[in-house]
Amino acid sequence: MYDIIRQLDEKRAAARLGGGEKRIAAQHAKGKLTARERIELLLDPGSFEEWDMFKGHRCTDFGMAGQSVPGDGVVTGYGTVNGRVMFVFSQDFTVFGGSLSEAHAEKICKIMDHAMKVGAPVIGLNDSGGARIQEGVASLGGYADVFQRNVLASGVIPQVSLIMGPCAGGAVYSPAMTDFIFMVKDSSYMFVTGPEVVRTVTHEEVTAEELGGAVTHSSRSGVADLAFENDVEALMMTRRLLGFLPSCNKAKPPTVPTEDTPDRIEMSLDTLVPESPNKPYDIKELIAKVVDERDFFELMPDHARNIVIGFGRMDGESVGFVANQPLVLAGCLDIKSAIKAARFVRFCDAFNIPIVTFVDVPGFMPGTAQEYGGIIKHGAKLLYAYAECTVPKVTVITRKAYGGAYDVMSSKHLRGDVNFAWPSAEIAVMGPKGAVEIIFREEKSDPGRIAAREKEYKEKFANPFIAGHRGFIDDVIMPHETRKRICRSLAMLRHKQLENPWRKHGNIPL
Ligand code: COA
Repeated sequence: MYDIIRQLDEKRAAARLGGGEKRIAAQHAKGKLTARERIELLLDPGSFEEWDMFKGHRCTDFGMAGQSVPGDGVVTGYGTVNGRVMFVFSQDFTVFGGSLSEAHAEKICKIMDHAMKVGAPVIGLNDSGGARIQEGVASLGGYADVFQRNVLASGVIPQVSLIMGPCAGGAVYSPAMTDFIFMVKDSSYMFVTGPEVVRTVTHEEVTAEELGGAVTHSSRSGVADLAFENDVEALMMTRRLLGFLPSCNKAKPPTVPTEDTPDRIEMSLDTLVPESPNKPYDIKELIAKVVDERDFFELMPDHARNIVIGFGRMDGESVGFVANQPLVLAGCLDIKSAIKAARFVRFCDAFNIPIVTFVDVPGFMPGTAQEYGGIIKHGAKLLYAYAECTVPKVTVITRKAYGGAYDVMSSKHLRGDVNFAWPSAEIAVMGPKGAVEIIFREEKSDPGRIAAREKEYKEKFANPFIAGHRGFIDDVIMPHETRKRICRSLAMLRHKQLENPWRKHGNIPL
């Protein structure tokens, strides 16, 4: 009996060694942790239950016979994060470069199937040379099996991808279908075709880092939500992110008790909006001052900075924040910001997370680049997302809410549950200057008259009371009371019931 136990111990030790000491040292030399070290940091200490530790590939071609490494390049199983069950797979670059074989894919599929069955998130730690070249189409089939599960799990369980090494070719499409992508600076990259192919086809000279590094994807492309300095930071921030999310679409996010009272007054908000309507201010200051303990977890901070998205808590409950940012492009909506916010709104809606929207938007971004780029369709994504959304929606207009952008930004007309405005709100078809130049075109040559008309238009529309008169605004609130009013609204909406008509699925403008 003891002999058998000893053998098991030896087999486990061999599996834990992955591709061996030399390759582990090489991994460390690149500033990367090993697959198992990453899992240890991600999950609560000692909570990891590993599955399929002894699974191996079945390939015998190209010298693969007899080259089996137990586990086949991916460590899979489940454990807990702050006591809640999470499923995890972690690709082991020390074993065949973490490349995906048929068996490797089967291991991932197994934990995804279980996660769906029990309603728990899946976290994928990606570090792989792509499809196992020696296996050919079998490994491509393996990818597709994972993709199919990513799609079926979308909106059912949260899926988070960490890119901690190479991720190229078909491999990118599994993370692409998950809810959040975190990358590690300098040691990870994602692209469909690498620099060599790019050079041959388009004659562009570009490094892997420039083409698909963490900075590129978290700022330019918007593929990644956040970029971190190293593995440890990425893993710690993943734990933080998970704290805002429910385990599945049938559950509510965990409540985190707070000392921050819901009726906290913040007098400095009364002077946040500058006297001049053209002067910017930082909308993040408003979020920081209303959210529990100033704890705001911003996503995509470097991409489409004219809109701010992220998670926080109000009186202990998870909330998704969406806010126009007057500091960047005057807070205009453009293609990138509409896509960024639309996807976030849909995530919150799928996972029972109420949405708080702060509005200061002068309209949609004008220009050929935007029109040719399809702002009509892309702007519609955000409108669609807010309109189909059934979770509690609380909106606060701080200053400008002009034109179609007023409608889009969680207005009363799109089933906004509680719509507030600050006294500084201006709700109109457009700014006073533009409006007067159109309606009183014939008086354009008389600056005196135009100024008088502008004043008249401003007095009539540059305030929240016309909208209030119509009931489009439920109340005009004191800025210093914003936290209290939002917390009360969310508490009132806690058991909100709203269902959209049955359909197979809608047809969001893609
Ligand atoms: N299939 C099988 N083995 C692979 C592999 C793959 N797709 N990618 C890497 N490996 C193996 C390498 O042969 C090497 O094995 P060894 O340690 O026994 O020598 C090991 O993984 C490490 O790879 P290496 O190339 O030494 O690492 P690197 O850090 O220098 O480069 C890559 C990493 C990913 C850039 C490089 O391995 C690569 O280009 N891989 C192929 C990518 C690809 O074309 N994939 C298929 C299409 S999706």
